[in-house]
Amino acid sequence: NTLIALSKAMPKTELHLHIEGTFEPEQMFAIAQRNQVALKYDSVEALIAAYQFTNLQDFLDLYYQGMSVLLHEEDFYDLTMAYLTKVHSENVVHVEIFFDPQGHLSRDVSFDVQIKGIYRALQDAKQQWGMTSKLIMSFLRHLSEESAFETLALAKPYLKWIDGVGLDSSELGHPPEKFLRVFQACKALGLKVTAHAGEEGPPEYVWQAIEDIGVDRIDHGNRALEDNNLICTIQQRNLTLTVCPLSNLKLCVVDDMKDHPITRMLALGLKATVNSDDPAYFGGYMNDNYASLIQHTGINLAQLYQLAKNGITGSWMTRAQQSVHL
Ligand code: HPA
Ligand code: ZN
Repeated sequence: NTLIALSKAMPKTELHLHIEGTFEPEQMFAIAQRNQVALKYDSVEALIAAYQFTNLQDFLDLYYQGMSVLLHEEDFYDLTMAYLTKVHSENVVHVEIFFDPQGHLSRDVSFDVQIKGIYRALQDAKQQWGMTSKLIMSFLRHLSEESAFETLALAKPYLKWIDGVGLDSSELGHPPEKFLRVFQACKALGLKVTAHAGEEGPPEYVWQAIEDIGVDRIDHGNRALEDNNLICTIQQRNLTLTVCPLSNLKLCVVDDMKDHPITRMLALGLKATVNSDDPAYFGGYMNDNYASLIQHTGINLAQLYQLAKNGITGSWMTRAQQSVHL
């Protein structure tokens, strides 16, 4: 298939990627063993067999279990390096990755250990391949505002390594406005802001992310399509949507890849991008997401090119840095 070959060859960016969601079962078992931590599953096969989700929470339950074997700086380095090596082979030239500090702090793994391991891998990728990156600290929205503020305090010594903040985990019942003051504090520190919104949550949550929080982009945004005024607002502000096709399929945000809304988003003039979210859990990395769109939707070459271009102009690189890839 020519389109698949072309999509593999295109230089791409990844703007929606949870580093803890790149934890491949084999690596998870290896690190669990070296850290002498027990996993709930006794084989890679048994673990993979559990990757059958009907909603976001089903997945999150396994995601937090999986990351619980990460204890040392080396673990965070190895996890991040494995991901970067994989996407380097897929012609991904720039990544903006999330990490979930609270998912590790709750297990007494310090902020320092986490960020030092992740950041060192990002630097090595820059040095070895010229791959550029941004690091986004994400707040867990099922936890309190106070917990988010505590996390921000721990991040203060590392602000030179952190480009932005995000909001993830269980969406329903945890609207963006719950974290309004935290995001205001982040902005005052010069951090970029994004938030998961409209994955499972209603259009109202996307409105809050835009109007109350003032996000620089929106992660997912699928359900924004239910509200025509919201569509107009996203168009007018030229907000980037970091869409995740295989994630949407695995978490039943879409029933069938042939009905994926990404081509409709493009037709509406929305700045959609392709991303892998949690590739170890959702059945594929960047190129698999493109391949699935090509195989199941009527997407054409111009649209594929537009998606990749949106990934560059929607990134937090400077215009000068972006122009290298355009
Ligand atoms: N949605 C919300 N929270 C998450 C996700 C997601 O897709 N992946 C990891 N944390
Ligand atoms: Zn996500």
